Amino acid sequence: MSSDCIIRNYRPDDFEILVQLKNESISLAADGRYLSPQAVRDILERPNYIPEQDLFIAEISGTVVGYLDITNEARIGRAVLECLVLPEHRQQGIARRLYYQAVPRMKALGAQVAHVNMCEDNTLARLVLEKMGFTSVRRFNEFSVNLDIISESKMSTIFPIRPLQAGEETTLAKLQNLTYAGSWGYNPNTAEDIGYAISTAGNAPEGVCLALDKDRPAGYFWMRIEHDEQGKRRGRVSMLGVDPDYRGRGIGRELLLAGLSYLKSKKLSVAQLTVDSENLVAESLYRSIGFKKIDSSLWYEKLLD
Ligand SMILES: CC(C)(COP(=O)(O)OP(=O)(O)OC[C@H]1O[C@@H](n2cnc3c(N)ncnc32)[C@H](O)[C@@H]1OP(=O)(O)O)[C@@H](O)C(=O)NCCC(=O)NCCS
Repeated sequence: MSSDCIIRNYRPDDFEILVQLKNESISLAADGRYLSPQAVRDILERPNYIPEQDLFIAEISGTVVGYLDITNEARIGRAVLECLVLPEHRQQGIARRLYYQAVPRMKALGAQVAHVNMCEDNTLARLVLEKMGFTSVRRFNEFSVNLDIISESKMSTIFPIRPLQAGEETTLAKLQNLTYAGSWGYNPNTAEDIGYAISTAGNAPEGVCLALDKDRPAGYFWMRIEHDEQGKRRGRVSMLGVDPDYRGRGIGRELLLAGLSYLKSKKLSVAQLTVDSENLVAESLYRSIGFKKIDSSLWYEKLLD
Protein backbone atom coordinates (compact mmCIF):
# COMPACT_ATOMS: atom_id res chain seq x y z
CA MET A 1 0.00 0.00 0.00
CA SER A 2 1.40 3.38 -1.02
CA SER A 3 1.21 5.42 2.21
CA ASP A 4 2.54 8.64 0.66
CA CYS A 5 -0.32 8.69 -1.86
CA ILE A 6 -3.14 11.14 -1.19
CA ILE A 7 -6.58 11.01 -2.76
CA ARG A 8 -8.21 14.39 -3.29
CA ASN A 9 -10.84 16.07 -5.44
CA TYR A 10 -10.05 17.42 -8.91
CA ARG A 11 -8.88 21.04 -9.23
CA PRO A 12 -8.91 23.10 -12.47
CA ASP A 13 -5.08 23.16 -12.52
CA ASP A 14 -5.14 19.34 -13.01
CA PHE A 15 -6.63 19.83 -16.49
CA GLU A 16 -3.48 19.24 -18.56
CA ILE A 17 -2.50 16.03 -16.78
CA LEU A 18 -6.12 14.88 -16.87
CA VAL A 19 -6.12 15.12 -20.70
CA GLN A 20 -3.06 12.83 -20.75
CA LEU A 21 -4.51 10.37 -18.23
CA LYS A 22 -7.91 10.21 -19.94
CA ASN A 23 -6.20 9.46 -23.25
CA GLU A 24 -4.12 6.75 -21.62
CA SER A 25 -7.33 5.31 -20.17
CA ILE A 26 -9.32 5.44 -23.38
CA SER A 27 -6.46 3.85 -25.38
CA LEU A 28 -7.10 0.73 -23.25
CA ALA A 29 -10.83 0.71 -24.09
CA ALA A 30 -12.45 -1.38 -26.83
CA ASP A 31 -13.43 1.83 -28.69
CA GLY A 32 -9.92 3.34 -28.15
CA ARG A 33 -9.80 6.86 -29.54
CA TYR A 34 -8.06 10.22 -29.06
CA LEU A 35 -9.64 12.88 -26.83
CA SER A 36 -8.63 16.44 -27.72
CA PRO A 37 -8.41 19.01 -24.89
CA GLN A 38 -11.78 20.33 -26.16
CA ALA A 39 -13.31 16.84 -25.93
CA VAL A 40 -12.09 16.58 -22.31
CA ARG A 41 -13.49 20.05 -21.59
CA ASP A 42 -16.84 18.86 -23.01
CA ILE A 43 -16.74 15.90 -20.61
CA LEU A 44 -16.00 18.16 -17.62
CA GLU A 45 -18.75 20.65 -18.48
CA ARG A 46 -21.55 18.16 -19.16
CA PRO A 47 -24.89 18.65 -17.37
CA ASN A 48 -25.39 17.04 -14.00
CA TYR A 49 -21.65 16.75 -13.34
CA ILE A 50 -19.36 18.64 -10.95
CA PRO A 51 -15.68 17.77 -11.56
CA GLU A 52 -14.64 19.16 -8.16
CA GLN A 53 -16.92 16.53 -6.54
CA ASP A 54 -17.22 13.70 -9.07
CA LEU A 55 -13.59 13.38 -10.12
CA PHE A 56 -10.93 12.05 -7.73
CA ILE A 57 -7.19 12.44 -8.14
CA ALA A 58 -4.41 10.25 -6.70
CA GLU A 59 -1.24 12.21 -6.03
CA ILE A 60 2.22 11.23 -4.77
CA SER A 61 4.62 14.02 -3.71
CA GLY A 62 2.79 16.58 -5.83
CA THR A 63 2.61 14.33 -8.94
CA VAL A 64 -0.73 13.08 -10.24
CA VAL A 65 -0.56 9.30 -10.69
CA GLY A 66 -4.19 8.31 -11.26
CA TYR A 67 -7.85 9.30 -11.25
CA LEU A 68 -11.35 7.99 -10.83
CA ASP A 69 -14.25 9.68 -12.59
CA ILE A 70 -17.92 9.15 -11.69
CA THR A 71 -20.65 9.51 -14.29
CA ASN A 72 -23.91 9.90 -12.44
CA GLU A 73 -26.67 7.78 -13.96
CA ALA A 74 -28.95 7.94 -10.93
CA ARG A 75 -32.06 7.74 -13.14
CA ILE A 76 -31.21 4.01 -13.38
CA GLY A 77 -29.53 3.84 -9.97
CA ARG A 78 -25.99 3.45 -11.18
CA ALA A 79 -22.68 5.28 -11.17
CA VAL A 80 -20.36 4.56 -14.11
CA LEU A 81 -16.70 4.66 -13.14
CA GLU A 82 -13.59 5.28 -15.18
CA CYS A 83 -10.29 4.73 -13.38
CA LEU A 84 -6.64 4.76 -14.33
CA VAL A 85 -3.44 4.39 -12.33
CA LEU A 86 -0.17 5.01 -14.21
CA PRO A 87 1.74 1.73 -14.87
CA GLU A 88 4.68 2.49 -12.54
CA HIS A 89 2.28 3.05 -9.61
CA ARG A 90 0.13 -0.05 -10.05
CA GLN A 91 -0.25 -2.89 -7.55
CA GLN A 92 0.04 -0.48 -4.60
CA GLY A 93 -3.67 -0.32 -3.75
CA ILE A 94 -4.26 3.09 -5.37
CA ALA A 95 -7.28 2.03 -7.47
CA ARG A 96 -8.85 0.51 -4.36
CA ARG A 97 -8.29 3.71 -2.38
CA LEU A 98 -9.73 5.82 -5.20
CA TYR A 99 -12.79 3.58 -5.29
CA TYR A 100 -13.47 3.64 -1.53
CA GLN A 101 -12.96 7.42 -1.38
CA ALA A 102 -15.57 7.78 -4.18
CA VAL A 103 -18.22 5.48 -2.62
CA PRO A 104 -19.85 8.15 -0.38
CA ARG A 105 -20.15 10.48 -3.36
CA MET A 106 -21.74 7.71 -5.50
CA LYS A 107 -24.26 7.05 -2.74
CA ALA A 108 -25.00 10.77 -2.33
CA LEU A 109 -25.77 10.89 -6.06
CA GLY A 110 -28.36 8.16 -5.56
CA ALA A 111 -26.49 5.19 -7.04
CA GLN A 112 -27.11 1.65 -5.78
CA VAL A 113 -24.52 0.01 -8.04
CA ALA A 114 -21.17 0.93 -9.54
CA HIS A 115 -20.47 -0.12 -13.13
CA VAL A 116 -17.13 -0.22 -14.94
CA ASN A 117 -16.54 -1.05 -18.61
CA MET A 118 -13.32 -2.92 -19.34
CA CYS A 119 -11.75 -4.16 -22.58
CA GLU A 120 -12.02 -7.96 -22.57
CA ASP A 121 -8.26 -8.27 -23.27
CA ASN A 122 -7.28 -6.21 -20.22
CA THR A 123 -6.77 -9.22 -17.98
CA LEU A 124 -4.79 -7.38 -15.30
CA ALA A 125 -7.45 -4.69 -14.76
CA ARG A 126 -10.16 -7.36 -14.79
CA LEU A 127 -8.32 -9.21 -12.03
CA VAL A 128 -8.09 -6.02 -9.96
CA LEU A 129 -11.85 -5.44 -10.36
CA GLU A 130 -12.66 -9.04 -9.43
CA LYS A 131 -10.46 -8.79 -6.31
CA MET A 132 -12.43 -5.67 -5.33
CA GLY A 133 -15.69 -7.60 -5.53
CA PHE A 134 -16.88 -6.58 -9.00
CA THR A 135 -18.53 -9.26 -11.15
CA SER A 136 -18.90 -9.25 -14.90
CA VAL A 137 -22.53 -8.84 -15.96
CA ARG A 138 -22.61 -7.98 -19.68
CA ARG A 139 -20.51 -8.13 -22.84
CA PHE A 140 -20.55 -5.32 -25.40
CA ASN A 141 -19.09 -5.75 -28.90
CA GLU A 142 -17.24 -3.22 -31.01
CA PHE A 143 -18.02 -3.31 -34.75
CA SER A 144 -16.36 -1.56 -37.67
CA VAL A 145 -17.27 -1.03 -41.33
CA ASN A 146 -15.28 0.25 -44.28
CA LEU A 147 -17.39 3.06 -45.74
CA ASP A 148 -16.18 2.23 -49.29
CA ILE A 149 -18.84 -0.46 -49.38
CA ILE A 150 -21.63 2.02 -48.56
CA SER A 151 -23.25 3.60 -51.61
CA GLU A 152 -23.88 7.33 -51.83
CA SER A 153 -27.14 8.58 -50.44
CA LYS A 154 -30.30 7.63 -52.28
CA MET A 155 -33.81 8.87 -51.57
CA SER A 156 -35.46 7.22 -48.59
CA THR A 157 -38.36 5.08 -49.77
CA ILE A 158 -40.29 4.61 -46.52
CA PHE A 159 -40.40 7.94 -44.69
CA PRO A 160 -38.52 11.18 -45.37
CA ILE A 161 -35.34 11.56 -43.32
CA ARG A 162 -34.21 15.05 -42.35
CA PRO A 163 -31.80 16.68 -39.85
CA LEU A 164 -32.97 17.59 -36.39
CA GLN A 165 -33.96 21.24 -36.20
CA ALA A 166 -33.27 23.81 -33.48
CA GLY A 167 -35.90 23.49 -30.75
CA GLU A 168 -36.50 19.74 -31.36
CA GLU A 169 -34.36 18.56 -28.41
CA THR A 170 -37.45 17.54 -26.41
CA THR A 171 -38.82 15.58 -29.40
CA LEU A 172 -35.52 13.71 -29.71
CA ALA A 173 -35.23 13.11 -25.95
CA LYS A 174 -38.72 11.52 -25.98
CA LEU A 175 -37.96 9.41 -29.07
CA GLN A 176 -34.59 8.28 -27.72
CA ASN A 177 -36.05 7.35 -24.33
CA LEU A 178 -38.87 5.46 -26.05
CA THR A 179 -36.66 3.54 -28.48
CA TYR A 180 -34.01 2.66 -25.87
CA ALA A 181 -36.44 1.89 -23.01
CA GLY A 182 -35.40 -1.43 -21.49
CA SER A 183 -31.96 -1.43 -23.17
CA TRP A 184 -29.40 -2.59 -20.62
CA GLY A 185 -27.51 0.36 -19.06
CA TYR A 186 -29.53 3.05 -20.85
CA ASN A 187 -29.96 6.15 -18.66
CA PRO A 188 -32.90 8.24 -19.96
CA ASN A 189 -31.86 11.62 -21.35
CA THR A 190 -33.40 15.06 -20.88
CA ALA A 191 -33.72 17.73 -23.58
CA GLU A 192 -30.84 19.50 -21.81
CA ASP A 193 -28.58 16.41 -22.12
CA ILE A 194 -29.44 16.14 -25.83
CA GLY A 195 -28.87 19.84 -26.54
CA TYR A 196 -25.52 19.72 -24.75
CA ALA A 197 -24.35 16.54 -26.50
CA ILE A 198 -25.13 18.00 -29.95
CA SER A 199 -23.00 21.07 -29.12
CA THR A 200 -19.90 19.04 -28.17
CA ALA A 201 -16.84 18.27 -30.32
CA GLY A 202 -17.52 15.84 -33.19
CA ASN A 203 -21.30 16.28 -33.09
CA ALA A 204 -23.36 18.43 -35.45
CA PRO A 205 -27.12 18.96 -35.89
CA GLU A 206 -26.90 17.55 -39.44
CA GLY A 207 -25.44 14.32 -38.03
CA VAL A 208 -28.69 13.70 -36.17
CA CYS A 209 -31.67 12.89 -38.41
CA LEU A 210 -35.30 11.94 -37.90
CA ALA A 211 -37.42 9.65 -40.08
CA LEU A 212 -40.89 11.23 -40.11
CA ASP A 213 -44.29 9.64 -40.67
CA LYS A 214 -46.00 12.95 -41.51
CA ASP A 215 -45.32 14.82 -38.21
CA ARG A 216 -44.65 11.75 -36.09
CA PRO A 217 -41.00 10.76 -35.59
CA ALA A 218 -40.67 7.04 -36.38
CA GLY A 219 -36.92 6.72 -35.81
CA TYR A 220 -33.59 8.52 -35.86
CA PHE A 221 -29.85 8.17 -36.24
CA TRP A 222 -27.10 10.03 -34.43
CA MET A 223 -23.69 9.95 -36.13
CA ARG A 224 -20.58 11.67 -34.89
CA ILE A 225 -16.98 12.14 -35.90
CA GLU A 226 -14.15 11.11 -33.60
CA HIS A 227 -10.41 10.55 -33.87
CA ASP A 228 -8.61 7.25 -33.58
CA GLU A 229 -5.44 6.92 -31.48
CA GLN A 230 -3.32 8.02 -34.47
CA GLY A 231 -5.43 11.18 -34.76
CA LYS A 232 -7.19 9.98 -37.95
CA ARG A 233 -10.87 10.96 -38.29
CA ARG A 234 -13.46 8.20 -38.22
CA GLY A 235 -17.22 7.98 -37.90
CA ARG A 236 -19.28 6.60 -35.05
CA VAL A 237 -22.84 5.36 -35.05
CA SER A 238 -23.68 6.87 -31.70
CA MET A 239 -27.40 6.01 -31.63
CA LEU A 240 -29.91 4.33 -33.91
CA GLY A 241 -33.49 3.89 -32.79
CA VAL A 242 -36.89 3.07 -34.25
CA ASP A 243 -40.17 3.60 -32.37
CA PRO A 244 -41.45 0.09 -31.37
CA ASP A 245 -44.68 0.76 -33.35
CA TYR A 246 -42.62 1.05 -36.55
CA ARG A 247 -40.10 -1.79 -36.17
CA GLY A 248 -39.55 -4.60 -38.68
CA ARG A 249 -40.47 -2.43 -41.70
CA GLY A 250 -36.97 -1.60 -42.92
CA ILE A 251 -36.78 1.85 -41.29
CA GLY A 252 -33.77 0.97 -39.11
CA ARG A 253 -31.85 -0.26 -42.17
CA GLU A 254 -32.74 2.85 -44.16
CA LEU A 255 -31.73 5.16 -41.30
CA LEU A 256 -28.43 3.34 -40.79
CA LEU A 257 -27.57 3.50 -44.49
CA ALA A 258 -28.48 7.21 -44.61
CA GLY A 259 -26.30 7.86 -41.54
CA LEU A 260 -23.33 5.96 -42.98
CA SER A 261 -23.73 7.81 -46.24
CA TYR A 262 -23.64 11.09 -44.26
CA LEU A 263 -20.34 9.97 -42.69
CA LYS A 264 -19.00 9.04 -46.12
CA SER A 265 -19.93 12.51 -47.41
CA LYS A 266 -17.65 13.89 -44.66
CA LYS A 267 -14.72 12.04 -46.34
CA LEU A 268 -14.45 9.37 -43.64
CA SER A 269 -13.42 5.85 -44.59
CA VAL A 270 -14.32 3.91 -41.43
CA ALA A 271 -17.26 3.89 -39.01
CA GLN A 272 -17.48 2.09 -35.68
CA LEU A 273 -20.18 1.35 -33.13
CA THR A 274 -20.65 -0.41 -29.81
CA VAL A 275 -23.54 -2.81 -29.28
CA ASP A 276 -24.77 -5.00 -26.45
CA SER A 277 -23.96 -8.63 -27.35
CA GLU A 278 -27.54 -9.53 -26.33
CA ASN A 279 -29.04 -7.07 -28.81
CA LEU A 280 -29.37 -9.68 -31.55
CA VAL A 281 -31.69 -7.59 -33.74
CA ALA A 282 -29.23 -4.70 -33.97
CA GLU A 283 -26.24 -7.04 -34.39
CA SER A 284 -27.94 -8.83 -37.26
CA LEU A 285 -28.71 -5.49 -38.93
CA TYR A 286 -25.09 -4.35 -38.59
CA ARG A 287 -23.65 -7.63 -39.88
CA SER A 288 -26.04 -7.63 -42.85
CA ILE A 289 -24.65 -4.24 -43.91
CA GLY A 290 -21.02 -5.40 -43.67
CA PHE A 291 -19.96 -4.45 -40.12
CA LYS A 292 -17.37 -6.81 -38.62
CA LYS A 293 -16.66 -7.42 -34.94
CA ILE A 294 -13.24 -6.04 -33.99
CA ASP A 295 -13.18 -6.10 -30.18
CA SER A 296 -15.30 -6.60 -27.09
CA SER A 297 -15.60 -5.23 -23.57
CA LEU A 298 -17.16 -6.40 -20.33
CA TRP A 299 -19.33 -4.43 -17.94
CA TYR A 300 -18.49 -5.10 -14.29
CA GLU A 301 -20.87 -4.42 -11.42
CA LYS A 302 -20.60 -3.98 -7.66
CA LEU A 303 -23.44 -3.23 -5.28
CA LEU A 304 -22.86 -0.20 -3.07
CA ASP A 305 -23.85 -1.60 0.31
C1 LIG B 1 -32.23 -2.00 -33.97
C2 LIG B 1 -33.44 -1.24 -34.53
C3 LIG B 1 -32.99 0.20 -34.82
C4 LIG B 1 -33.88 -1.91 -35.85
O1 LIG B 1 -34.92 -1.13 -36.42
P1 LIG B 1 -36.02 -1.77 -37.42
O2 LIG B 1 -36.62 -0.65 -38.18
O3 LIG B 1 -36.94 -2.66 -36.70
O4 LIG B 1 -35.09 -2.65 -38.38
P2 LIG B 1 -35.42 -3.07 -39.90
O5 LIG B 1 -36.87 -3.35 -40.06
O6 LIG B 1 -34.82 -2.07 -40.83
O7 LIG B 1 -34.62 -4.44 -40.03
C5 LIG B 1 -33.28 -4.43 -40.43
C6 LIG B 1 -32.61 -5.75 -40.08
O8 LIG B 1 -32.60 -5.91 -38.67
C7 LIG B 1 -32.71 -7.28 -38.33
N1 LIG B 1 -33.98 -7.49 -37.62
C8 LIG B 1 -35.04 -6.65 -37.56
N2 LIG B 1 -35.99 -7.17 -36.77
C9 LIG B 1 -35.52 -8.36 -36.34
C10 LIG B 1 -36.04 -9.35 -35.48
N3 LIG B 1 -37.24 -9.24 -34.89
N4 LIG B 1 -35.28 -10.44 -35.24
C11 LIG B 1 -34.06 -10.57 -35.81
N5 LIG B 1 -33.50 -9.64 -36.63
C12 LIG B 1 -34.24 -8.56 -36.89
C13 LIG B 1 -32.70 -8.01 -39.64
O9 LIG B 1 -31.34 -8.23 -40.01
C14 LIG B 1 -33.32 -6.99 -40.57
O10 LIG B 1 -33.00 -7.21 -41.91
P3 LIG B 1 -33.99 -8.14 -42.84
O11 LIG B 1 -35.36 -7.53 -42.68
O12 LIG B 1 -33.42 -7.96 -44.20
O13 LIG B 1 -33.89 -9.51 -42.28
C15 LIG B 1 -34.64 -1.26 -33.54
O14 LIG B 1 -34.88 -2.61 -33.15
C16 LIG B 1 -34.46 -0.43 -32.29
O15 LIG B 1 -34.77 0.77 -32.28
N6 LIG B 1 -33.98 -1.06 -31.18
C17 LIG B 1 -33.78 -0.34 -29.91
C18 LIG B 1 -32.60 0.61 -29.97
C19 LIG B 1 -31.33 -0.15 -30.30
O16 LIG B 1 -31.07 -1.23 -29.77
N7 LIG B 1 -30.50 0.46 -31.18
C20 LIG B 1 -29.23 -0.08 -31.56
C21 LIG B 1 -28.23 0.15 -30.48
S1 LIG B 1 -26.58 -0.14 -31.00
